[in-house]
Amino acid sequence: MSVLTAGAAHPATPALAPSGGVRVIGWGAAVPEHRVTNHDLTRHLDTSDEWIVERSGIRERRWAGPGESTGHLAVAACRAALDRAGTRPDQLDAVLLATTTPDHPVPSTAAEVAAALGTTAGAFDINAACAGFVYGLTVAAGLMTAGVARTVLVAGADVITSILDKGDRQTAVLFGDGAGAVVLAAGDPAETGDPGETGAGPTVAGPPGLVACDLAGDPGGVDLLVVPAGGSARPASAETVAAGEHHLRMDGREVFRRAVRAVEASIERTLARAGCSPEDVALFVPHQANARIVEAVLARTGLDPARTLSTIDRYGNTSASSIPIALSEAADAGTVAPGDLVLMSGFGAGLTVGTALWRWGTLTPAGGDDV
Ligand code: UT7
Repeated sequence: MSVLTAGAAHPATPALAPSGGVRVIGWGAAVPEHRVTNHDLTRHLDTSDEWIVERSGIRERRWAGPGESTGHLAVAACRAALDRAGTRPDQLDAVLLATTTPDHPVPSTAAEVAAALGTTAGAFDINAACAGFVYGLTVAAGLMTAGVARTVLVAGADVITSILDKGDRQTAVLFGDGAGAVVLAAGDPAETGDPGETGAGPTVAGPPGLVACDLAGDPGGVDLLVVPAGGSARPASAETVAAGEHHLRMDGREVFRRAVRAVEASIERTLARAGCSPEDVALFVPHQANARIVEAVLARTGLDPARTLSTIDRYGNTSASSIPIALSEAADAGTVAPGDLVLMSGFGAGLTVGTALWRWGTLTPAGGDDV
């Protein structure tokens, strides 16, 4: 085995958007119907509503039922995003799906989603755990900047309950299932510069799209969130099933400690690369893992709690879908406006961390002026 060494660990950000910028022209989300409250969990787990609310901020979550797979939820979110965008599947150049819970080991769930949507676009999964949607946005921006793709569907979807030991109170209370998606479109190269001063929050001039990003890892945390079996290192067998090795195992306290530090550092690097301060951020969309993690990050970074999205009370930790679900709800509610700087930051198994600073810009469904 040879080991490849990366170059500079955290290089300065080069150009991250095509000259016409990138607009989010559609968005959508989907969650299972089945609602599971904290009280429901107390029927079979040694836990309480008070403990879960106080330690995590979660009140209820959605759990997938029969037939509701990651791909199934992703297709629903993607269809909603395409409808909103007024984009036909055959107009897509790429489909990126962030997930840790694919429908099958082979093929990729992105390929199955693309087939269900009816597009021949290149499709692939991204496994960066709960940070996956931010990784997906960054990869999409790279494809668009390189001129490989002009219209890209980026989704985050997970059915974490498929790997959850529902008898393990340390993990069972935290996770929920869901999917979220956005349609990205490269702008006309003639459209550059300031998109206007219409944003509700602070606006820093520039074309819409990725302003700065940071993708990083914490190798010391690689063993903290693991599904031990089912891969090439330990293929599935009667033994692995009997030992419960297909379930998620987590050292929650240590993940918490490392996540706060990693997310803080990643946000600071991203804002520094953009030349922005926390006050410039109009909307902060953190990964929804634990309300106390978000509070700690806000206290350390100086980001404004009033401009921070929270869905954790209703959905729990939905892994790669938590950021696009929250973003979709904000876009539906009109909480984000053209020119606004949206900061998204996620962390998860690996440990992976990813932060993207995105200047919002969108189009009317008919493809007219900025709204
Ligand atoms: O997307 C990334 C994925 N993961 C995460 O982000 C997880 C990050 N970690 C966390 O969110 C928190 O560490 C947890 C919510 C998992 C746990 O909160 P905590 O404040 O770190 O609790 P703890 O693990 O230190 O446990 C405190 C006590 C323990 O009892 P003792 O040893 O003090 O008697 C646990 O056994 O709480 C007990 N406990 C529970 N009690 C009631 C653990 N889980 C539960 C539960 N209900 N569900």
